[in-house]
Amino acid sequence: MRSNEIREKFLEYFKKNGHAVRSSSSLVPDDPSVLLTTAGMQQFKRYYTGELDAEKDFGSLSTVSIQKCFRTSDIDEVGDESHLTFFEMLGNFSFGGYFKKEAIRYGFEFITGVMELTIEAVTVFDPAKVPDGDWRKNGVPFDEESYVIWREIFAENGISVDKVKREGVDNFWGPTGTEGPCGPTTEIYVKSVEGKSIEVWNIVFNEFYRDSAMKLTKLPTPGVDTGMGLERLAMLSQNVPTIFDTDLFTDLIGDVLEQVSIFDLMLPRAKRIVLDHLRAIIFLIADGVRPSNKEAEYILRRLMRRVIVYEYLTNDSFLEIFLHRIIKKYNNIHQKFDESVILSVWHEENSKFLKTVQNGIKELNRMSTIDAQSAFKLYESSGLPYEAIKEFGGNKAGTLTRDAFDKEFKKHQEISRAGVAKKFGGHGLILDTGELKAGSEEEQKKVTRLHTATHLLHQALRDVLGGGVGQMGSDITPERTRFDFTFSRKMTDEEKKKVEGIVNQKIAEDLEVRFEEMSKEEAERTGALHFFKEKYPERVKVYYVAPKGKGIETAYSKEFCGGPHVTHTGEIGQFRIAKEEAVGAGTRRIRGVLA
Ligand code: SER
Repeated sequence: MRSNEIREKFLEYFKKNGHAVRSSSSLVPDDPSVLLTTAGMQQFKRYYTGELDAEKDFGSLSTVSIQKCFRTSDIDEVGDESHLTFFEMLGNFSFGGYFKKEAIRYGFEFITGVMELTIEAVTVFDPAKVPDGDWRKNGVPFDEESYVIWREIFAENGISVDKVKREGVDNFWGPTGTEGPCGPTTEIYVKSVEGKSIEVWNIVFNEFYRDSAMKLTKLPTPGVDTGMGLERLAMLSQNVPTIFDTDLFTDLIGDVLEQVSIFDLMLPRAKRIVLDHLRAIIFLIADGVRPSNKEAEYILRRLMRRVIVYEYLTNDSFLEIFLHRIIKKYNNIHQKFDESVILSVWHEENSKFLKTVQNGIKELNRMSTIDAQSAFKLYESSGLPYEAIKEFGGNKAGTLTRDAFDKEFKKHQEISRAGVAKKFGGHGLILDTGELKAGSEEEQKKVTRLHTATHLLHQALRDVLGGGVGQMGSDITPERTRFDFTFSRKMTDEEKKKVEGIVNQKIAEDLEVRFEEMSKEEAERTGALHFFKEKYPERVKVYYVAPKGKGIETAYSKEFCGGPHVTHTGEIGQFRIAKEEAVGAGTRRIRGVLA
């Protein structure tokens, strides 16, 4: 079945079953706890918690949509056979309407009846398969209901009931952002043409709410949230080995090779990167994102530069042909594209990047040999990606391999977080971690005091304004700390006084500041606050503020952090909120100073 038909059939099937058809929300979400929209349920979050009323807004307790999604976590994997940054997610949702029985039957009927695919296996949540200490074990029972429903359906249809399997952590959907609805899932697997078992549909039963301390409470009205990637479903339906062999991508190539012979010569990996990234670039620009150096804008810039480099490598500006084709294929599916806007953003970034490339190549020409380490250094200083270094490096980069480069890349991600504290303390060292900026030793002492004060401030804000407060950004100079956080209104004077009072109280108690290094999972389990937009390495440090000699479990504040911090809160001095203001919808900014 071609992708257009799949989209239609999906909406039609659920409409027939009483679902209100909703269009995709923007890739740039209202929800400040995520950078970009990653799932269909996001636009409906407040219907699960009961803050909004679906019956009133949609005339139904259930909806269906095809959502534009973007997952940053997969950027570095793109190029293999199955990863994408941008994709479309088919989903049906229930907010206190139908539950497990209907949701599972719909899933079965759509896959086997409408799509005419054969189910290879399904999985249901069993806490016995979850490691001890994991938050998903906190009082979540075996999903026996789903287990029984699937076995009944399979028995009715002559399918072996042994195909209903019990699984652990993969069958529990965590909230998007720091807190939110979550619950056990059941997943449907279909065999690919190459015999691999592919997870095609994730059906989530939102029975719980996870708060910022990782505690689960039952939601008053449980809901259903499902997600099925269009690209994967098309791959299975079209009997092709990879998502890039579906009409969603092959249509973009078509007869293009006559015009861009160079594309034919590119490696499969490069072709996939080009096609995936260009699709994402167009949708991001169309949703208002512009390339720059922070957050979603930086992601767009990264994607653009990554593909533009192929034009330099091939000395052929062939990408525009693909831009036109993608715009044509996707126009009016989710929105009407303004081609002239997309192209002008494209051209502007292209000319900016030209400078970077030229500087990078100059640097490269000065190097005598290029191994993984020096290649990575060059990448960091100039932005030249691996492909360009390999190509322009010629013989000098003869022994450089992608594996070695990737290893260096990973190593660095970890060092750059863990290393901050170590580097600190050297005389005259410029400290710029992105969060802290200081020059002289004197200045470094000041930012360190403000840094610990910022952790106390973060926790105090949560104490006073509630667990919905999450860090959106932080910037510390010797003069002040600037802390951005999610909160929907102006703080009252009384609230500001309270927050100041708590911070100063914790300073007066002269608590100890220590850290423990642990795996990311362990750290999450401690309930330590973290900056949810950040991708953390496997091992992280958790800085905590606790009474003298007492452990992390007694801590007032716990955060994922690279340091540096004071050793005792008494060193901080008097804290004061100098200003509280808005910085965009749902985000507030506090400037704090020390006396
Ligand atoms: N939210 C779930 C997912 O993204 C189901 O839609 O997989």
